[in-house]
Amino acid sequence: MKEPYAHPMMPRANHDELARQNFVASARIHSWDNIHPGLKTVYETRAKGAFARRHNRDPQNRHDVHRAMDAEPYYLMWSSLARSLREMHWDSVAESVERQLPQLIDSARKLGHDKGSLRLNPNFQQPRYMSAVDIHVMPGGYHVDQVEDDVSSGAVSDRGGYYHILMFMGARAHQMEEKPGRLVGEAFANNIINYQRTMFPDLQVRRILDIGCCNGRNSLPYIDAYPGAEVHGVDLSAPQLRYGHARAQFFGKPVHFSQQNAEHTDFPDGHFDMVVSSAVMHETSRTAVANIMKEAHRLLRPGGVTIHSERAFYKTMSPFNAFLEDWECYYDNEPFKATWREMDPKKVLADAGFDPARIIEHSSTRAVAGQTQYLEPGKGPSAIFGARK
Ligand SMILES: C[S@@+](CC[C@H](N)C(=O)[O-])C[C@H]1O[C@@H](n2cnc3c(N)ncnc32)[C@H](O)[C@@H]1O
Repeated sequence: MKEPYAHPMMPRANHDELARQNFVASARIHSWDNIHPGLKTVYETRAKGAFARRHNRDPQNRHDVHRAMDAEPYYLMWSSLARSLREMHWDSVAESVERQLPQLIDSARKLGHDKGSLRLNPNFQQPRYMSAVDIHVMPGGYHVDQVEDDVSSGAVSDRGGYYHILMFMGARAHQMEEKPGRLVGEAFANNIINYQRTMFPDLQVRRILDIGCCNGRNSLPYIDAYPGAEVHGVDLSAPQLRYGHARAQFFGKPVHFSQQNAEHTDFPDGHFDMVVSSAVMHETSRTAVANIMKEAHRLLRPGGVTIHSERAFYKTMSPFNAFLEDWECYYDNEPFKATWREMDPKKVLADAGFDPARIIEHSSTRAVAGQTQYLEPGKGPSAIFGARK
């Protein structure tokens, strides 16, 4: 398994750490490619019939399927394996980060601040959806600040995110090699850029806001895609932003990072041509989603565009497929994910003030698989939607 691109903020693995990280990544690919597909067979040949005999009807929704599968040893075995591998995944990466934390903090300081900027708020109050749970089992979550100038959660999510994405690449992951300009973690931004060019080709982009920019992996491609544009990223987490700022310094990308809740930012009305997010809404709450979309509306100039990329919504999914996706909500510390995926993105945008006639929604092929194609909602594994103000 190839290592992620070795920029100065990327924690390096020693021999034993690398062996553990490769083992966990390979085991996750194996469980996903070879064990996970068996769940469908178990459902069709055993669980569905057993449920029908017990209830005198077929399973009708994802909750019924969950009840049916919860009695199946194959599901319980897969589920417990998936949870254990998820914990091992973060632990194996955190080991490299903890060993090198002083050097990583030092690297961040040495990379300086001459490109872009970093604004942190020492009195920042985390919303409860962030502080109440370690989202997707990442120890400490995104936001925990352990030492002065901490960058640890940024480093864990950068190296850990790389190995997580490999899981979805299957056997191809073994050949993949990262190079600047071809970093796997940037697929979400490339999808959004492609969507803007396909759906809103006349949009002039001079200022762009990336909501929930995390460690900035997906903020950087906007610099190259929109030459001369000012790129801003906001996130709740100081350690992610410190890490992201240092990483952007190394890559020479002048992104302006600030610690802000995207529900209520300090940017003026109409300040941006484009407001985007990738993989953020499902980690918030019903109220936060409504507030964030209203804020996006306030921040856009007339004619500006908002685009959001997420996993597919349940409304077009079979009960069995929705049950499979639900696993993360039950067992991967993603408590809001199922509620979010039951919501209707067009309604969310309309409620925030966007004209329903100017709202669009598609599904897409998986962003990590390369150039995405846009399909009717429900036809692909990912969702992408947006609106023009
Ligand atoms: C899965 S990460 C998204 C990563 C990033 N957008 C990407 O595509 O690589 C979700 C991020 O959203 C941030 N976030 C969640 N709610 C937020 C809010 N209300 N305001 C700003 N950031 C938020 C979290 O702190 C976390 O860093």
